[in-house]
Amino acid sequence: LARGVTEPDLKGRHVVISAGGTREPLDPVRFLGNRSSGKQGYALARTAAARGARVTLIAANSALPDPAGVDVVPVGTALQLREAVLEASADADAVVMAAAVADFRPAVYAAGKIKKKDDQEPEPITLVRNPDILAEVSAERARPGQVIVGFAAETDDVLANGRAKLKRKGCDLLVVNEVGESRTFGSEENEAVVLGADGSETAVPHGPKEALAETVWGLVVERLH
Ligand code: CTP
Ligand code: CA
Repeated sequence: LARGVTEPDLKGRHVVISAGGTREPLDPVRFLGNRSSGKQGYALARTAAARGARVTLIAANSALPDPAGVDVVPVGTALQLREAVLEASADADAVVMAAAVADFRPAVYAAGKIKKKDDQEPEPITLVRNPDILAEVSAERARPGQVIVGFAAETDDVLANGRAKLKRKGCDLLVVNEVGESRTFGSEENEAVVLGADGSETAVPHGPKEALAETVWGLVVERLH
């Protein structure tokens, strides 16, 4: 058996994965969004199911097909994602926040389409903060020993920012990858370093998102008891 690939080492476990990117509506036809494709989160869901887990995939605006044998919960906004993650996490052994959650949402939602007015400059868009779901599930731990994993996309000082973020969030593992115009978003491949709250550092070479997913599950399994 190739270690961690076909072993059902997540059998009897419930894992919750968030994927995709939230959309924060301005009016019925417009939103603030991001470029997350959902591919990494879906790869995590497929690989967890293959390792025997019961999988709940909280999917934010992903166009990808539902993975077989996975319970998919579609959501739109960060607030909806939070509700779904908190509910599904209640009995989860592991929670993996792979979704790109909008940090801010428009302070006001216009029930009717925003129209431009002749000879008038547009109104500025006022934003308010969204709750930090990863920090919340890490602080609350619905179950003792629940393993919590975050993802971070960084453009500069990747490792230093990653370490600081891991501490700030209070999660057990943080998957850090470097992003840029053509890297990671929408691509089939990924390259990352997985930082552990215990000080561990696991480099994952450039490769398919499934390979990174398998590494993440291996590290999660080591931390489950
Ligand atoms: N996350 C979350 N809730 C938010 C924002 C982020 O749960 N409101 C999660 C993401 O799903 C990810 C992790 O936190 O797993 C890190 O996201 P990131 O955007 O890198 O962290 P932030 O704290 O928002 O920091 P930054 O200012 O760099 O965006
Ligand atoms: Ca953010």
